[in-house]
Amino acid sequence: QKYNVAVLGATGLVGRQIIETLADRKFPVDQLFLLASSRSAGEDIKFRGETIEVLDVEGFDFSQAHIGLFSAGGSVSEKYAPIAADAGCIVIDNTSHFRNDFEIPLVVPEVNASGLADFRNRNIIANPNCSTIQMMLALKPIYDAYGIDRINVSTYQAVSGAGKEAVDELAKQTANLMNARPMDNKVFPKQIAFNVIPQIDSFEDNGYTREEMKMVNETHKILGDTTIAVNPTCVRVPVFFGHSESINIETRMPYDFEHVKQLLKDAPGVELIDDEGDYPTAVSDASGNDTVYIGRLRADISHPHGLNMWVVSDNTRKGAATNSIQIAEELIANYM
Ligand code: A2P
Repeated sequence: QKYNVAVLGATGLVGRQIIETLADRKFPVDQLFLLASSRSAGEDIKFRGETIEVLDVEGFDFSQAHIGLFSAGGSVSEKYAPIAADAGCIVIDNTSHFRNDFEIPLVVPEVNASGLADFRNRNIIANPNCSTIQMMLALKPIYDAYGIDRINVSTYQAVSGAGKEAVDELAKQTANLMNARPMDNKVFPKQIAFNVIPQIDSFEDNGYTREEMKMVNETHKILGDTTIAVNPTCVRVPVFFGHSESINIETRMPYDFEHVKQLLKDAPGVELIDDEGDYPTAVSDASGNDTVYIGRLRADISHPHGLNMWVVSDNTRKGAATNSIQIAEELIANYM
């Protein structure tokens, strides 16, 4: 059995990664429709050696597609996801637009695949935020074994999370600054080259950013537990690909350190790199592959139930494209 797949946002960073990952994972694609705005309609993109022309999403007949992978921004999904869903195309949406809707499942396949069944409510499934996905993979085995009272997390997020213009901005600023030329910033609120910015997305009334509140709300929804206290600070760093996170948790029950280590060694989708002073980094380990790497695992000297870890993952892959395609794989294996 093969499926017709539509990729909306096909010319973007995540869209291009989706196209590559569909081929790499040998997803059973029959026809592939590549959709974007009128700006890039007519461009050619290669898939499995074949050249496919990008179409304008405006006017596209979604009844031709079984599955739609959307990553063209929240307002684009707001408009086109219901149109596609009504036409019988099951939408897997990478934007934040539908994530908090109680009718719409929010899924990390290794963590809450069973939640997928609810896709029938609206024919839409939401893919979580990149920072939430990697944190969930690292914390789920510990949550299941000991419970978690509180999560304190600081992120170090790559510019690719903000799209291709953001990647270009870091590259241009870096080149300009190294050549003593003036630089300007359009995508980021401050200079990102050789700098660190403690703001991702806009501010909410409580002083947290929207990105930070995504980590709070999505953690509650994915684990099905609103009692976990989540306190995030999300920071943009001058890294092209790969998000890093410094995570401190307080478990509900006392934990056994060696057991936690074993749980993480056995957990799906993660790899522990923690021997002899070694640890993973975004660029040297995570970038370009689908694994979530964990290191710096250590008992918190300031709290009896505290535990620290460092978690890195490629935000455009497991944080976006790969997770969406894994959702599609679950869908065709169990529901279609
Ligand atoms: P386009 O190339 O036509 O602008 P990124 O996240 O890397 O910035 O990519 C955003 C993706 O979303 C691109 O593929 C872009 O297509 C697409 N996109 C942006 N706005 C729209 C829109 N209004 N309608 C359809 N696709 C859009």
